[in-house]
Amino acid sequence: MGNTVIELKSLSRSYGYGEGTTYALKDFDLEVKRGEFIMIMGPSGCGKTTLLNIIGLLDRPNFGSYVLDGESVARLSARKKANLRSKKIGLIFQDFNLIPTLNVLDNVALPLIYSGSKSKSKRYIAADNILKRFHLEKREYFLPFQLSGGQKQRVAIARSLVASPEIILADEPTGNLDSRSAHIVMEELKAIHEEGNTIIMVTHNPSLTTYATRVIHMLDGGIDTDIKTVADADLPQPISVHFGRANLDRKNSDLAPESESTSFEIDIKEEIKTTKKKTKKSTRKLKKLQKKTAKKKKKETL
Ligand SMILES: Nc1ncnc2c1ncn2[C@@H]1O[C@H](COP(=O)(O)OP(=O)(O)OP(=O)(O)O)[C@@H](O)[C@H]1O
Ligand SMILES: [Mg+2]
Repeated sequence: MGNTVIELKSLSRSYGYGEGTTYALKDFDLEVKRGEFIMIMGPSGCGKTTLLNIIGLLDRPNFGSYVLDGESVARLSARKKANLRSKKIGLIFQDFNLIPTLNVLDNVALPLIYSGSKSKSKRYIAADNILKRFHLEKREYFLPFQLSGGQKQRVAIARSLVASPEIILADEPTGNLDSRSAHIVMEELKAIHEEGNTIIMVTHNPSLTTYATRVIHMLDGGIDTDIKTVADADLPQPISVHFGRANLDRKNSDLAPESESTSFEIDIKEEIKTTKKKTKKSTRKLKKLQKKTAKKKKKETL
């Protein structure tokens, strides 16, 4: 095992039954070392997103084994998977998945709720620290619609890193960006990789492979070519990256979501909860005000 962080063996993910079965992944084997920066390429429909979803514990294989950090995770309960995901994995999507009604600071602080941080001020301190790292501190109170595409993606990356995951999974993170914004995002990912984190990124852009230590071309649910450009011994030394994480209370894992929801669904649930709380507060305020006004009127009429 040693430096192996992810090990997939004979993994298959299929859809449909009998003659109608289609394989998104078939007999897929992959060993990922800590500190690798893997770029995954391949034609549309070859199984890239399916692979990231399985590695990110958002989807489960029909067959095969998945060992994450020495622990077999393919058959874990949904609750345990969600818990592991919130602590070890950061997900970055092409379409950012920011909550439109939450400001930048709240968006970035959100994952810390799921990873067990009870203290709101500590969550904000950690979010503020990582936003500073991405030069976004002046945008903390902006809503997502007030940001450029590149800024939104940097906020999304900051959000995926705030809980200090060891593994970052990115599905075409620069797909919607102009070349300048894409360059900035790639430079950020490069810096994160150099700090010893493991990155697996899907891209359609061959010029981005210069950032990778390994390039895998997929075809029809399997690996077509797999080329390492950096020897395992020369990979960046893993160091623990604490974006203010050291201060956070990791103990309470009870906050991890029950269901195997995607992080986006979880975010929405959290948003609804917050909105309900806010509404309750406003209703209370309104009732108080109504009572006060009624009393005042009564006095006036007397
Ligand atoms: N929920 C689903 N039901 C049925 N088939 C699915 C489902 N999700 C994915 N597939 C199929 O699995 C295959 C792999 O899909 P996947 O999304 O992993 O491809 P991809 O390589 O990410 O493609 P793209 O580059 O277009 O994003 C496709 O043939 C797709 O139609
Ligand atoms: Mg895809």
